[in-house]
Amino acid sequence: MQNKFYVTTPIYYVNDQPHVGHAYTTVLADVLARYHRLLGVPTFFLTGSDEHGQKVAKAAAAAGLTPQEQADRTVVRFQQLWTKLGITHDDFIRTTEDRHKLVVQQILQDLFQRGEIYRAEYDGWYCVPCERFFTEKDLVEGACPDCHRPVDKIKEANYFFRMGKYQQWLLDYIQAHPKFIQPDFRRNETLGFLRQPLNDLCISRPKSRLAWGIELPFDADYVCYVWFDALVNYISAIGYRSDDAKFRQWWPCSAHLIGKDILTTHTVYWPTMLQAMGLPQPEMIFAHGWWLTSGSKMSKTAGNVVNPMEMAERYGVDAFRYFLIAEMVMGQDASFTEESFVRRFNADLANDLGNLLNRITNMVGRYFAGRLPAPAEDALAGAEEKTVWDTVQAAVTTLEQSVTGMRLHEGVGAAIIAVKAINRYLELKQPWSLAKQADKAPLATTLFTAAETLRVAAGLLFPVMPEKMAVVLRSLGLADTTPKLDELRAWGVLQPGTAVQDFGPLFPRVEKAEAKPETGSQKTEVRDQKSEVSQINPALPSAINHPPATISAPPPGVALLDYADFAKLDLRTAKIINAAKIEGADKLLKLDVFVGEERRQIVAGIALYYTPEQLIGKTVVIVANLKPAKIRGVESQGMLLAASKGEKLLLVTVDGELSSGARVK
Ligand code: ME8
Ligand code: MG
Repeated sequence: MQNKFYVTTPIYYVNDQPHVGHAYTTVLADVLARYHRLLGVPTFFLTGSDEHGQKVAKAAAAAGLTPQEQADRTVVRFQQLWTKLGITHDDFIRTTEDRHKLVVQQILQDLFQRGEIYRAEYDGWYCVPCERFFTEKDLVEGACPDCHRPVDKIKEANYFFRMGKYQQWLLDYIQAHPKFIQPDFRRNETLGFLRQPLNDLCISRPKSRLAWGIELPFDADYVCYVWFDALVNYISAIGYRSDDAKFRQWWPCSAHLIGKDILTTHTVYWPTMLQAMGLPQPEMIFAHGWWLTSGSKMSKTAGNVVNPMEMAERYGVDAFRYFLIAEMVMGQDASFTEESFVRRFNADLANDLGNLLNRITNMVGRYFAGRLPAPAEDALAGAEEKTVWDTVQAAVTTLEQSVTGMRLHEGVGAAIIAVKAINRYLELKQPWSLAKQADKAPLATTLFTAAETLRVAAGLLFPVMPEKMAVVLRSLGLADTTPKLDELRAWGVLQPGTAVQDFGPLFPRVEKAEAKPETGSQKTEVRDQKSEVSQINPALPSAINHPPATISAPPPGVALLDYADFAKLDLRTAKIINAAKIEGADKLLKLDVFVGEERRQIVAGIALYYTPEQLIGKTVVIVANLKPAKIRGVESQGMLLAASKGEKLLLVTVDGELSSGARVK
């Protein structure tokens, strides 16, 4: 067995909010970390944020913030998402922290003194979005070979890392270490890349062009190239040059998880940097595929992002984690559609897993007064009992192998197959018929076997769905719900006589939100039966309810509308450009918005839910043809839409980039 497991995610740019792609890598790392803990392997899990460079500087400029302010605000969105998603990272590193910057500077200084970094005149092409330099022949049809956007011609003095001299060494290293870059086809991609001559790497940016970065210790006119800074996070966070014992404990890293978009930086830049520093290589760099929507990479620029926070809110954190892990064949691309999400949810979670728990707790309740019955001494001598136990144990083996083999989807698939086998076992044994016999021993063995095998299956799925599986294990009467490998291998961990409890349906079936019929738009509408779209102008009465396709009784006080009535509403997108508190009214905020070219002022009762900072820059939906009203003496020219339920209130926004003033219907 491995003696330690150190896993990392990319550190994400704080230029924008997180989407499903970011959530995937982090959930994957979390699931791997949790499996290793379950296997008893000491584990360190690192994630963080990449805060320097052009992307962040640009986003800051667009938002009218300093880059540090931009980073401080955006990093919170990532951290909140990780909390929401139950991520158990041991550290979160921000590249603007001193503990990181100082290490980067020490490395730069050392490499400079040893001649690994040198100064030279640079004459070539530069891609701003990718922040990479290219030679004439790198270009594809005159554009960036990576993102195909136009490149800029630049000529300036810069500092270079002697990456080129490590080309042969790197080729040899990759050949000699087949597990170093995974999957195999990515390894081949890197080997292919290395068939071209490898250039030295420009690691500086003149401050005159970009000031947002770590200053070069040997030339104050320059900052460090963002990638040369960012990659160092994997060692700065674990004590390189600051805490030797800690560094020796965790380095080399067991697995750098990355998306395929950042393969070259991780499999060429980073290994050569480490080699120049005299450090051992990571054991594995694993590049996973992309989440696609409608066939293209989910990205802010494409405007097709799925918001992970929303998915977790709507379907539950554990179901979302489960979908990410079960749906994506590790290494391949996968499509994120709500249809496949709902299908998988209902099939695997509601039907197979939820039903199984429900059957067991029900029957133990009915036939044994809620106490787990004792099985026969030689329960596993029964043919069906042995079959179901063997299936579950095979799943333990598959899962263990899938964790080290980076094939988690297979391990999780095996756990669900085990759950199906337990359901089949119950159908075969027909405990409801056994209950009619005078001899209760066969019934007792059946229900115990079902509960005991479910305990193992739930333990296997625990790293993926920690909250829900803890509920399963508590239902079965376990006080300590943290699964351990030896217990997953053992028969008879559940104690006969303990109370089996029913905490209600584990995964109530879900329906996909339906498309709006009258606009013919392909977008799906988020609808929750129990939440309502309401006006939040506190001075104005009654809620608007948009008529869904099929309707149950509307809530009290809300009438069914004819479309003609609905059409009288002028709903528009509006961009919030300013927000401020209103003196003496702690629930109100005064907002300045643009509705197309028109500027308006709106008073909204959302101060308890949003800070002014969170609102600036958001595109929201307003009722634009509401008669102006004075609220606490302040004129309000329209009203925002928001959804509220219980303690929560969230503003209605549009599902991508759209300029203000657009009609909403
Ligand atoms: O590249 N599908 O940060 P980043 C799957 N700061 N994963 C996706 C994805 C998608 N559609 N989109 C993004 C950076 N990801 C650098 C990293 S590391 C030293 C510096 C995930 O914010 C995937 O892990 O652009 C990808 O590699 C990463 O987000 C890129 O995040
Ligand atoms: Mg990116």
